[in-house]
Amino acid sequence: MRLDKYLADMGMGTRKEVKGLIRKGLVRVNDQVVKVPETAVTEEDQVVCNQVVVGYVQKEYYMLNKPAGVISATEDSRQKTVVDLIHTKKRKDLFPVGRLDKDTEGLLLITNDGELAHRLLSPKKHVGKVYYAKIRGEVTQEDVEIFKKGVPIEEDFTALPANLKVLQAGEESEIEVEIFEGKFHQVKRMFLAVGKEVMYLKRLSMGELKLDESLEPGEYRQLTEEELNKLRKGPIDLFKHNWQL
Ligand code: URA
Repeated sequence: MRLDKYLADMGMGTRKEVKGLIRKGLVRVNDQVVKVPETAVTEEDQVVCNQVVVGYVQKEYYMLNKPAGVISATEDSRQKTVVDLIHTKKRKDLFPVGRLDKDTEGLLLITNDGELAHRLLSPKKHVGKVYYAKIRGEVTQEDVEIFKKGVPIEEDFTALPANLKVLQAGEESEIEVEIFEGKFHQVKRMFLAVGKEVMYLKRLSMGELKLDESLEPGEYRQLTEEELNKLRKGPIDLFKHNWQL
């Protein structure tokens, strides 16, 4: 690829800025100053910009424990986004795989791997997502049964069957729910449909990927090879998978 694209992809500046750096003689390729932005380089070449070695990274994968108050978008002129939280990112083309509401916490995969994202989000794949929630009102066995059959939400929309586990029932209940689709405000709407309100929501897992509980809200880390391999194996049919995540 062209040297200016290589440097811009790796966040050394805009295409225009890196062209300036190259023309000023601040960029070396394999120990030679290169002043032509169109020069072809590969990942094998050693590229040094302003005395910093710039390795080329094709794909990045981060697990973020999303904090409340941050939006699931790539950029926004007024609000902080989940991608803004990845301070050590190399690539500029990172995006969140799916969306969590602004007030929802927990597992969010941030990557630039569009193919993997597509596989995890495709409505046909039914990748399971497990959430922990605090609910205003008593969650009952009847709710568990309704969720198992599929909660009717609107006239033309009944949620897919979901696994609801009551951790604590009372005026305020604690639950875990596994859902296999990802409609707008899905979990909140499912509880509203049975007359209850979600007060706190946190995603614990997505397919084979589990939130690393050592990450505080706002913290992130790169995925391990093992986690990546599990995700790459492709979504399994999670309807058969029932609570074995
Ligand atoms: N369901 C919701 O209601 N909100 C989320 O953020 C995720 C799932």
